[in-house]
Amino acid sequence: LGAGGGGHPGHGHDGGARLAVDQLVEERTGPPDVAVTLVARAERVEIAPGVEVDAYTVNGSTPGPTVRATQGDLVEVTFVNESVPDGATLHWHGMDVPNAVDGVAGVTQDAVGLGEEFTYRFVAEDAGTYWYHSHQVSHEQVRRGLLGAVVVGPAPDAPAVAGPDVAGLLEHAVDVTAVVHQFGPHRTVAGVAGDLAVDVPAGGAARVRVVNTDDGTLPVWVTGSAFRLLAIDGTDVHAPPEVREQAVSLTAGARADLLVTVPDDGTPVRVELGGSAAVVLGPAGATAEPTRRPEATLDPLTYGEPAPLGLDPAAADRHFTYTIGRRPGFVDGRPGMQWTVNGRTFPDVPMFTVREGDVVRMTLSNASGEAHPMHLHGHHVVVLERDGVPASGSPWWVDSLDVRQGETYEVAFVADNPGVWMDHCHNLPHAAEGLVAHLMYE
Ligand code: C2O
Ligand code: CU
Repeated sequence: LGAGGGGHPGHGHDGGARLAVDQLVEERTGPPDVAVTLVARAERVEIAPGVEVDAYTVNGSTPGPTVRATQGDLVEVTFVNESVPDGATLHWHGMDVPNAVDGVAGVTQDAVGLGEEFTYRFVAEDAGTYWYHSHQVSHEQVRRGLLGAVVVGPAPDAPAVAGPDVAGLLEHAVDVTAVVHQFGPHRTVAGVAGDLAVDVPAGGAARVRVVNTDDGTLPVWVTGSAFRLLAIDGTDVHAPPEVREQAVSLTAGARADLLVTVPDDGTPVRVELGGSAAVVLGPAGATAEPTRRPEATLDPLTYGEPAPLGLDPAAADRHFTYTIGRRPGFVDGRPGMQWTVNGRTFPDVPMFTVREGDVVRMTLSNASGEAHPMHLHGHHVVVLERDGVPASGSPWWVDSLDVRQGETYEVAFVADNPGVWMDHCHNLPHAAEGLVAHLMYE
């Protein structure tokens, strides 16, 4: 197995556990380790007593079932479109899968029509929290719930980057997946409006995997316990310290894994999700009142301990500029405001071209007046600096990054996954309004 520091470009999912690039490119044959069938339907679902919404479901619910695998598993998903009228696909958000199974209708495959099916096969290369969603008319299909979580457990020999004390807690921690999704005025967790109660004994720990499937930023904070931010967008944070009274700002499409411990007296811990829903952890039946968002926000730029990036940003082969702006134009055939990438609007945005193995730097800046959660498919990027301030904490690897008005981020990644990849705003209506670029391998 190629170690991250051993010359293989890696995106930082830690060294020893990462599979070598040549093993990934080679097609895995034989029976899958994980095989699931996911069936998409248009149907009404009840998200609260007496509250029904028009949804797109996966196997009868939204979110659909969590796809679970262990790092290194060959995963095979048979996707069936039973009744989504416009066709649908599955995109594996945050998973660096081969391009052919990236699930982007019109780029890597055609939408799966009514009554049709499509098989996705890939190796779950990295442990972490991810999600799947349709990438056909995404702004509508994601809003209606055609989505679910993916949880990849670490390989048995994976190093514990969080440190031995955390590893000990995690061994017995209750693992909770909190897919957060807004239906109209209702914020749901795991498909139900309001709070999700999870039994955790007094003194017990929980790992809460929060997945933001909405178009806006989700602030997450913890009441009743200190917490650690274990992972961002599926990548473990190095030596995450305990913090209190800080909100984690989860951009659209992003994931955060939090480690919390229920106090010895059994007082429940609330993991607040934007203030209108929560994961409530504690002995059965215990309740706690909602709380207000703390003033401070955790800054991943300085959180955790530095560690090798596995790439040398000073020796970049390419340097791209991705400047987000706004201008009047035509949207759906009518005059309106368009978002721009370097002054152009999709599909008129030139491709960013790379060669396999390139170290790529990108300067992402935003002068458009609004925040944009930028998402690159098929790769993770590491944040080098924000507004000229260098990153000083744990390597901050992301697939979804909030670039707010006036901000400039310098990021880097290794071009180690050939294909044509979208690099777009995950406030999905913005993508429909032109905020889309592509990365293409020559
Ligand atoms: Cu989560 Cu291009 O999407
Ligand atoms: Cu945007």
